[in-house]
Amino acid sequence: MLAASLMFPLWHGGPSERKAILVTSTVEIPSVCHREPMRPDKHDFDTLNSDTWSVHGGNHADETTGAIRTPIVMANSYRLPADPTTIDDPDFAGLVYTREHGANQRGLEEKLAKLDHGESAAVFATGMAAMHAAFFTVLNPGDHAVISNVVYMRVAGLFETILPAKLGIEVDFVDITDLDAVRAAVRPTTRLVHTEVIANPDLRVADVAALAQIAHEADALLTVDSTFTPPPMMRPLDLGADLVMHSLTKYYNGHGDAMGGVVIGGGTLVDEVRTGALWHAGGAISPFNAWLIMRGSTTLPLRLRRHCENALAIAEFLAADPRVVHVAYPGLAGHGQRESATAQLREGFGGVVSFALGGTHEDRLRFVNDLRVITSAVSLGHDETLVAYEEYPDGPASAFAAPFREHGLVRLAVGLESPEDLVADLDAALTTAYGAAR
Ligand SMILES: Cc1ncc(COP(=O)(O)O)c(C=O)c1O
Repeated sequence: MLAASLMFPLWHGGPSERKAILVTSTVEIPSVCHREPMRPDKHDFDTLNSDTWSVHGGNHADETTGAIRTPIVMANSYRLPADPTTIDDPDFAGLVYTREHGANQRGLEEKLAKLDHGESAAVFATGMAAMHAAFFTVLNPGDHAVISNVVYMRVAGLFETILPAKLGIEVDFVDITDLDAVRAAVRPTTRLVHTEVIANPDLRVADVAALAQIAHEADALLTVDSTFTPPPMMRPLDLGADLVMHSLTKYYNGHGDAMGGVVIGGGTLVDEVRTGALWHAGGAISPFNAWLIMRGSTTLPLRLRRHCENALAIAEFLAADPRVVHVAYPGLAGHGQRESATAQLREGFGGVVSFALGGTHEDRLRFVNDLRVITSAVSLGHDETLVAYEEYPDGPASAFAAPFREHGLVRLAVGLESPEDLVADLDAALTTAYGAAR
């Protein structure tokens, strides 16, 4: 190494007052040539910040027209190679038939796999198609599964009735935040532990690394539904999960106009999901929806930050309001897994706030129906704020906090509007239903 004194310019000040100043420094110069510093390339995830990959990943200029965005390829079939029998070679990389692989699916898979730090991804027509594909791949008849007792209702339904009836799967539903209960539920036949990071709808938070350890000690796999916590908020594969799934219908698409789902993980396991459950069960996403989700996902990191900021502002408003009986939001001091949420999540605590209102059923309906900016509809992760009020007479609600069992649960899927307008809308509807706050 040679030591040398160098003069080099630094830009100083803001854009309007840019002037070069000279700085003297002593630097080490290697005596042999070394590699140039890596320049970022828009198609190389390893040299890019993940926000940049959200914009460029999986998008390829069109060779025919020169269009700088991958076009929507609405074709069921692709021209076969000169020797069509080569499509069965394991390393055949071309496209053949859109149920199995189309141009828009492939681009989306390329983007999503890397965003979640996975090797491979398989996209599906809906989130449920993706969830089902993962479970169908991992489980065999007679296996045992440990499932969080608060999960999206259709996933709960799969494990309550369909998988036990059709495949003889044995299931224990446990409070996933109680690690001793999870350990106690594991059996020699357990092949699957499944959870959501932030549970829909009561917003309890799972400790993904601890669950991965429990699952792996039992020789089982951990699958994680990270729909409420897409990258860059959380990457369950980095914490030991074997597969991560998302409903792309939600934050990834972000605009409430296309459905999709994805399974991401190691190459071999995702290949099994693709060839077994996508090719044969056939829940392929349409090229148009894949394109819409691809477009939505370019702004995912920006939108997520706004969803999280708005949700925190609303959770704080509701928590301070005497007309509200109970608020669940992982970013609030009183949330049971606040510490775990802080340790695992980046950028914020998600865009969903769940709360309970007192009074009668009719009071709660008056509140929901008096909202003017916020729309009463299911789903989440849309640009607009949605509210869904549900009462759960039995079943999954037995696991919820007492106020939700007693008063029902209002789930607010906070959108991208101004937080002042959302708070004003909530305040006005609460006043209609319950009178002015003190
Ligand atoms: C947490 C979660 N997982 C999965 C799904 C299913 O996704 P999709 O509606 O795209 O099938 C939903 C839908 O609401 C969900 O909230």
